[in-house]
Amino acid sequence: MKNIIFMSPPAAGKGTISDMLVESLGYIHISTGEILREEINSGSEFGKEINEIITSGGLVNDDIMVRLVRDKLSFNKDKPFILDGFPRTLNQAEMLNEIFLDLNINNILVAYLEINLDDALKRALGRVICPSCKKSYNIYYDDLKPKSTNICDDCKVELEKRSDDTEETFKVRFNTYLENASSIMDYYKDKKVFKKFNALSSPNEILENILKEVKND
Ligand code: AP5
Repeated sequence: MKNIIFMSPPAAGKGTISDMLVESLGYIHISTGEILREEINSGSEFGKEINEIITSGGLVNDDIMVRLVRDKLSFNKDKPFILDGFPRTLNQAEMLNEIFLDLNINNILVAYLEINLDDALKRALGRVICPSCKKSYNIYYDDLKPKSTNICDDCKVELEKRSDDTEETFKVRFNTYLENASSIMDYYKDKKVFKKFNALSSPNEILENILKEVKND
C-alpha cells in the first residue's frame, strides 16, 4: 500500500477523503493544518502566533512545519501514512525528500485534488466541524449535511465554523496555495509519483479512484 501525499487548494476535500482512507485502509493521517489548530486551541504563545498567520491566510514558517512533520513521521515509522497539507512550498518538498531518505520511506503517491476557486469557496463557506471529533460536514451538500441541523451525528455537540473560512481569508489562502503549487507539482511529476483527481466528483468516487492507485504497488 502506497503512502500518500495529499495536495490540493483549500477546501477541495483532502480531510474528508483522508478520513475515508483511514477508515477503509487504516492509514495514519497527518494533517499539518489540524496540528496547527490543536496548538492554537492549547492557548500557548506559539498558538497565538500561528493563529495570526492562519487567519490572515498566510503560511507558517517552513522550518517549523518541517520539524513537526519529521517528528510525526519518525514517531509513526513503518506505518502507511497520509500527509495532508504538506508540503506547501518547494522548499518543504525538498526537505521532505531528505526526511524520506533518512527514514527510508519510499512508495509514495502524490494525489492532487483539482478544484476551481468558486467551488472551493462554496465548500469552505458551507463547512461546519465538530469541535470534539473534528468530523467535517457541509450545509450545502445533502450527502454531507449533519442529520440534525448544526449538531454532530456522532458526538451530539454543536458544530463550529473555522475562523479562516471567511470569503476574504479564503481567497488569500487559495491564491497563496496556487502561487506555490505548480513548482511542487513539477517536482513530483519529475519523480513520476504525481496523479491528479477531480475534486468535483462525489467523495465515494474520489475514494474509489484513489484506492485503485494506492493498491497498485
Ligand atoms: P489546512 O487545514 O491544511 O487547510 P487547507 O489546505 O486550506 O485545507 P482545508 O482543511 O481547508 O480543506 P480540505 O481540502 O481538507 O477540505 P475538507 O475535506 O475539509 O491549513 C490551514 C492553514 O494552516 C493554512 O492556510 C496555513 O496557514 C497553515 N498550514 C497548514 N499546513 C501548512 C504548511 N505545510 N506550511 C505552512 N503553513 C501551513 O472539505 C471542505 C468542505 O467541503 C467540507 O465541508 C466537506 O464536507 C466538503 N466536501 C469535501 N469533499 C466534497 C465533495 N467531494 N463534494 C462536495 N463537498 C465536499
